[in-house]
Amino acid sequence: MSAEQMKKAVAQAALKYVVDDSIIGVGTGSTANAFIDALADAQIPLRGAVASSEATAERLKAAGYVLEDLNSAGTLSLYIDGTDEVNGDLQLIKGGGGALTREKIVAAASTRFVCIADASKQVSVLGKFALPVEVIPMARSYVAREIVKLGGDPELRDRFTTDNGNVILDIHNMQITNPVTLEQQINQLAGVVCCGLFAQRPADVMLLGQKDGSVTTI
Ligand code: 5RP
Repeated sequence: MSAEQMKKAVAQAALKYVVDDSIIGVGTGSTANAFIDALADAQIPLRGAVASSEATAERLKAAGYVLEDLNSAGTLSLYIDGTDEVNGDLQLIKGGGGALTREKIVAAASTRFVCIADASKQVSVLGKFALPVEVIPMARSYVAREIVKLGGDPELRDRFTTDNGNVILDIHNMQITNPVTLEQQINQLAGVVCCGLFAQRPADVMLLGQKDGSVTTI
């Protein structure tokens, strides 16, 4: 089974967590897109959806869903999103698509975070995927130097601006054995808007699409 088919399978499996006529949060990326398509194909009625990026907002709108502002929506019962890596504690590296800040906000404002991915995203130790960090542009060099002190190799994401008008530093070569501590250390650097580690608030449920077409729930 291809990665595309595995994404479709987990997207389909995530539908059972959606309550009709609720307001849900929706993540960003190809797996989140597969979820939006599955939602629309199944004609699941929603009161509205909170998007974690402009791209997701466009796709939800095209599928006929009403977009909600998180400030008016209150606590969401469900957030569905993909990931770049997941470990055994359901801690994640996210932000490959650059939407990490809004993703983290919507995840934080949701009671249940159901993460969907193909099995290739499962790792024992986070860090093979370069860790994205969203940074205010004027702090780029300072934050990069501080990240080197923490043991990482930061690289400015080429010609990329986030939906919030900031830049991304992708941190290579970090074996993240203590994700909660590293998330806190990076978060407290002046100029950092958000770190792509989702460790303090991990996923609550992980659906992993397997090569044989099955979906594993962790
Ligand atoms: C975007 C993300 C995505 O969830 C992550 O990059 C996974 O994307 P895909 O589903 O395309 O593999 O964090 O910022």
